[in-house]
Amino acid sequence: MKRENVTHLLATDLDGTLVGEQEMTAFLLDYYKDRPYQVELVYVTGRHYASTMDLINDEKLPMPSVLISDVGTEMYDFNDPALHERWKKTLEEQWNPDAISRIVELCSGLMPQSIPSTHRLSYYAESDEAVEDVKRKLIDSSVPHKLIYSSGRDVDILPPNAGKGEALSFLIREKGWEEANILVAGDSGNDRDMLTLGYPSVIVGNCQEELKELPDHPMIFRAQRLCAGGIHEAWEHFFEKAAAVK
Ligand code: GLC
Ligand code: MG
Repeated sequence: MKRENVTHLLATDLDGTLVGEQEMTAFLLDYYKDRPYQVELVYVTGRHYASTMDLINDEKLPMPSVLISDVGTEMYDFNDPALHERWKKTLEEQWNPDAISRIVELCSGLMPQSIPSTHRLSYYAESDEAVEDVKRKLIDSSVPHKLIYSSGRDVDILPPNAGKGEALSFLIREKGWEEANILVAGDSGNDRDMLTLGYPSVIVGNCQEELKELPDHPMIFRAQRLCAGGIHEAWEHFFEKAAAVK
């Protein structure tokens, strides 16, 4: 189902981005209520579904129109449940978790995360060297995959066509939201591929080291303020400043 009337969209990571500074989150959500337009919310998180719902409840966040969970491997459109099936089908064509687990077992220094997810394998890494080792072995094996290392700790191994960026692009295409004013927000390595899609994007002030290394780009705004405060800063930069000039 296409929503033709979506003019503004915030596609945001949760931990360390929309969530992290409670006052800033409340301020941003109030600011959106005061806009003369509606801001559609899409949450794009590394958490799995149940863990995301717990966070939404604990932090009293509004329900988004769409939740992309599990580092861009699962997608829940609350207006169109069939979207999840279409997305999964594209991932499963190139997903071979058994072959990947066998290779990871040959490496030391990676502890499996205990998560219910079926379209990603996630680990805690003991060191950067352990990650380099598993990266090399996976590349040598030629098993299709995408490896994402974030926060000096989390290693996610995904189908090659998954990830937050691929999932968000798929969603925007499916919903016909290409013409909307879209702001993408994140704070760590698993956000990199959605922050570089070419939409207005914000790296919040409290970002992890791996995002400080990202090359500068006119569409990437580096906020001074933390978490949701940085989202607000970028929203003004991209959308409200332009409105004032018109
Ligand atoms: C979240 C998830 C974890 C994942 C990490 C990085 O912390 O809970 O499973 O590895 O994000 O994507
Ligand atoms: Mg985060």
